[in-house]
Amino acid sequence: MSWSGLTAIVAAAGLGAAVPDAWGGDLAEDGALVFARACVVCHAPGTPSTAMLQDRYKDSVPALLEERTDMTPEYVRSVVRSWRPRMPAFRPTEVSDEELAALAAYLTRNNRPRSPPDVTRQ
Ligand code: HEC
Repeated sequence: MSWSGLTAIVAAAGLGAAVPDAWGGDLAEDGALVFARACVVCHAPGTPSTAMLQDRYKDSVPALLEERTDMTPEYVRSVVRSWRPRMPAFRPTEVSDEELAALAAYLTRNNRPRSPPDVTRQ
């Protein structure tokens, strides 16, 4: 994360200014900052939302989004842009497309590459 990228995010968060397209930093690191600003209020350890996800998944996947390895970038983007029963949609004025791309990169940073299909077995 470069200082200019950080400044851009701080400026965008505080003043509603547009985030530049090119941040010059690591996308997933930028996403961590967006997560801290927009998501951690609900998706931190010990929140009702985390308890809800814990209850739903029963430890088959981590309740904390930051520890998940099973979500695709497309899934993260679609959840953030659409309403859910207890999670509001974020409009592009709240989380821009660039910020959303960074968020998706952050929340999928630990995903393992999918294994290729096994062509030796039928
Ligand atoms: C007001 C609280 C709240 C905020 C803010 C919030 N979420 Fe959520 N989120 C929830 C709740 C509650 C759920 C589970 C409910 C559901 O899936 O309907 C959820 C579910 C999700 C899921 C789906 C997980 C799954 O397994 O299906 C994703 C992805 C997600 N949130 C990402 C985010 C991101 C990224 C942000 C920040 C931009 C964010 N959330 C901000 C409350 C919140």
